[in-house]
Amino acid sequence: MRRNSSISRMALVLLAGLFVAGEALPVLAQSGLRQLPTVRSAYQRRVDSIASGEPEQVFSGAASVTPNHGAPWMVSLQVWGARRQLGHFCGGAVVDPAWVLTAAHCLAGAATTAGSAPEPSKIQVMTGSNVLFAGGKILTVDRFVIHPNYNVTEERVPVNDLALLHVTGAALEPLPILPEAAVADALKDGSKVRIYGWGTSSFRNAAPISNTLLFAFVDVVGTGKCNEPAVYNGVVTDAMFCAGLGFADACQGDSGGPAVAYLNGERYLLGITSWGVGCTDKKYPGVYVNVPKYKGWIQSTVGGTP
Ligand code: ARG
Repeated sequence: MRRNSSISRMALVLLAGLFVAGEALPVLAQSGLRQLPTVRSAYQRRVDSIASGEPEQVFSGAASVTPNHGAPWMVSLQVWGARRQLGHFCGGAVVDPAWVLTAAHCLAGAATTAGSAPEPSKIQVMTGSNVLFAGGKILTVDRFVIHPNYNVTEERVPVNDLALLHVTGAALEPLPILPEAAVADALKDGSKVRIYGWGTSSFRNAAPISNTLLFAFVDVVGTGKCNEPAVYNGVVTDAMFCAGLGFADACQGDSGGPAVAYLNGERYLLGITSWGVGCTDKKYPGVYVNVPKYKGWIQSTVGGTP
């Protein structure tokens, strides 16, 4: 990232590199799409990896540490009862005092494998801390709602990849969704968005997650470019957007976390980390859910007025 000296940046990347990853994500061949292994839920992957004794895996490439209390709406989704550093499986963003927005693939595998989502009681939400190992508050989840049209395509691309979790026992601080009038500008090729997560810093299979919440600024890659045959070849819909090419990127364990846009100096929710081929790949950017497209569903689900 441009903001830091390359020395501190390198240190961060190396440090984060000590931690892991490992998700069956959609992967595309050089010349178009190729089918990959079935999408398992990020929750299930974490449960399996805890059982196998592996470490886990946020950002790939250049990321910086988020200042304490710098992102009060950022949460970690964790396997209930697991040690926190081990239990983290996805990020999430608070969108209402009692609701957290995340990616559907964090909870469910392919939509066709019905019943694979965990019980809400098997998930804990950590809020109020930048580090996984200490502080903050652990909240319980009493229900969650996966978007009714969530699906995974033949190419293993998750569509309508969003879900809402209802937490109990706390009033959380929401991140407002970017107003419609500002969306086109925020999604122009080259616009900056800021992403947050505890995910791995490398795509390799044993990359660990970061104990510290990291952030990075990534450039939006226009959908036209992102859909070129040599890139994602048409699978990126207008309910998704691409950002981050070759330098900073989200990675495994960052899914569900927010991509934030600035408007008059304030931060707003623009995206949810969803999928990508590898991490910090020179050819394949990260792909995010275009959250303002789903404002109606989010508001009706949390019970507000659209
Ligand atoms: N699906 C991943 C996760 O569960 C996020 C992948 C994002 N990849 C990327 N290259 N931006 O954490």
